[in-house]
Amino acid sequence: MSVPAWAQVSAQRRAHIERVAAQLDEWAHAMRVPAGERDRWLRAAWLHDALRDAPLGDRVAHGPAAADRAAADGERDRGVLDAIRYHTVGFAGWDDVGRMLYLADFLEPGRDAAGARSDRAELARRVPSERDAILREVARRRIEWVVRSGWPLPAATVGFWNALVGRAKE
Ligand SMILES: [Fe+2]
Repeated sequence: MSVPAWAQVSAQRRAHIERVAAQLDEWAHAMRVPAGERDRWLRAAWLHDALRDAPLGDRVAHGPAAADRAAADGERDRGVLDAIRYHTVGFAGWDDVGRMLYLADFLEPGRDAAGARSDRAELARRVPSERDAILREVARRRIEWVVRSGWPLPAATVGFWNALVGRAKE
């Protein structure tokens, strides 16, 4: 697999996408998911940032734009399309594809500046055995970043967080 022919990505973006796919492949093997499920995770990985460097004018527009383009291109899997569409904001209705992509997009090893100390690698290592706990931690960090930046929280993000916390209390 690779990025689609219609992708508009810089070399750095392509490298990020490749690391996300590699991370998901590693987790799929560690979690012993069936090949068909692993294939869904990888399709989402290759597609999610395919239009990240397209001139869309809005930093959150590339997810919906890529989902629409993938659907027009023949992708029929609702979980894969929702994973792509909402990967920057989160989505309460996600199945495992959306949850795993959200984790890999944040935890892939290339995000840290060279030499920066970070516990991301440790979080990534724990995903196969503690997926839901790590998902809440990653969501917490991403949402803290949005709040600290003074940006509004999208409704989808609020719904995602509430669903995660609700699950935690069950
Ligand atoms: Fe990404």
